[in-house]
Amino acid sequence: MNFDLTDEQKMIQDMARDFAAKEVAPKAAEIDKNHRYPAELVAKMAELGLMGMMVPEEQGGAGMDSISYVIAIEEISAACASTGVIMSVNNSLVCDPLQRNCTPEQAEKFLKPLASGQKLGCFGLTEPNAGSDAAGQKTTAVLDGDEWVLNGAKNFITNGNEADTAIVFAMTDKEQGTRGISTFVVEKGTPGFSIGKLEDKLGICGSSTAELVFEDCRIPKDNLLGKVGEGFKIAMVTLDGGRIGIASQALGIARAALTTAKQHALDRVQFGKPIARLQAIQWMVADMATRLDSARLLTYRAAHLKDQKKRFSREAAMGKLAASEAAMWITTKAIQILGGYGYTKEYPVERNFRDAKITEIYEGTSEIMRLVIAMNELS
Ligand code: CAA
Repeated sequence: MNFDLTDEQKMIQDMARDFAAKEVAPKAAEIDKNHRYPAELVAKMAELGLMGMMVPEEQGGAGMDSISYVIAIEEISAACASTGVIMSVNNSLVCDPLQRNCTPEQAEKFLKPLASGQKLGCFGLTEPNAGSDAAGQKTTAVLDGDEWVLNGAKNFITNGNEADTAIVFAMTDKEQGTRGISTFVVEKGTPGFSIGKLEDKLGICGSSTAELVFEDCRIPKDNLLGKVGEGFKIAMVTLDGGRIGIASQALGIARAALTTAKQHALDRVQFGKPIARLQAIQWMVADMATRLDSARLLTYRAAHLKDQKKRFSREAAMGKLAASEAAMWITTKAIQILGGYGYTKEYPVERNFRDAKITEIYEGTSEIMRLVIAMNELS
């Protein structure tokens, strides 16, 4: 077993860390405060090959492995978790299902511009009554001549407001349950497709969370992705990969909070010595570092299995569960170490704390992660 990163992975880490430190971190507080979509950072990430990292170069991507992807998401998210999730959704939830299921024509038309970052994508699975129960889709797609006609609404869609291309799941045969769901590609500007409610959120305030509305929205027959009835499996396989991305985002958030807390513990003098010399603080830092490293190892294992083309549903769920719960715990302790300062907007740990919470919810809640792990353990 080799825990060392390859030269290429180290290069990606250096590049992403440098970009995050110089260009992302200085803007993170302002992006959060103004709930601003960081268009200029997304454009720069496209130039750096970060928007379609695992897509082969001939299809517009950077042709890298999943470990490189995990490393890059952690670096970007440590600086700004909103920017991290914008990148993660485009890579994991849009480019990945397209690359695995597209025809050569779809690769040219949809995948290339998304993988190169010329365009941005979103993933429309969740509905008001189909969250954890993803099979409870109400959106319908009916074939009419050479067109599919979509009706329904999706909510809580990351990147929904800015996306040029949406991957949309809809019922094509209610009688078939999970085997009656199909996947479609819907382009911005298609008549009958509009953006509804925009959510005002606790954290990741720089990324949009939007409702997608479909009212007799007609798309070409050729915009079906994969085969009719394969949609649920496409969604599940996609989310397995997505969970690695969110685990990595959580690692970045947690690492940022731990870094701030350690520096504060070394600088802050109380009772005549830096608080880092108090055992109460030392034990917190030790537990924070241990939980962070445990979560990172689980996340790297899931990414490694994905690269080996082995099954990784269980391992991705473990990585996401561990990393998201570590992020929530570590950011809570970071505020505790900073005391009153940690509760103010002078320091980034309150933003880290707010951003951490969503990692326990989206792309499968911690409860769904435990369900997936248990189903694998007990089958
Ligand atoms: N890989 C491949 N196939 C899978 C699979 C996987 N990981 N998981 C399930 N399947 C298959 C099953 O084998 C089964 O196949 P057959 O029909 O051939 O038997 C089929 O899918 C149905 O499986 P289940 O009976 O297990 O399905 P279920 O209805 O009980 O649901 C679930 C299982 C795990 C709870 C699933 O609904 C789930 O993952 N829910 C959470 C949804 C979620 O993560 N939503 C996040 C939304 S996206 C988001 O947040 C994006 C964002 O904007 C950031």
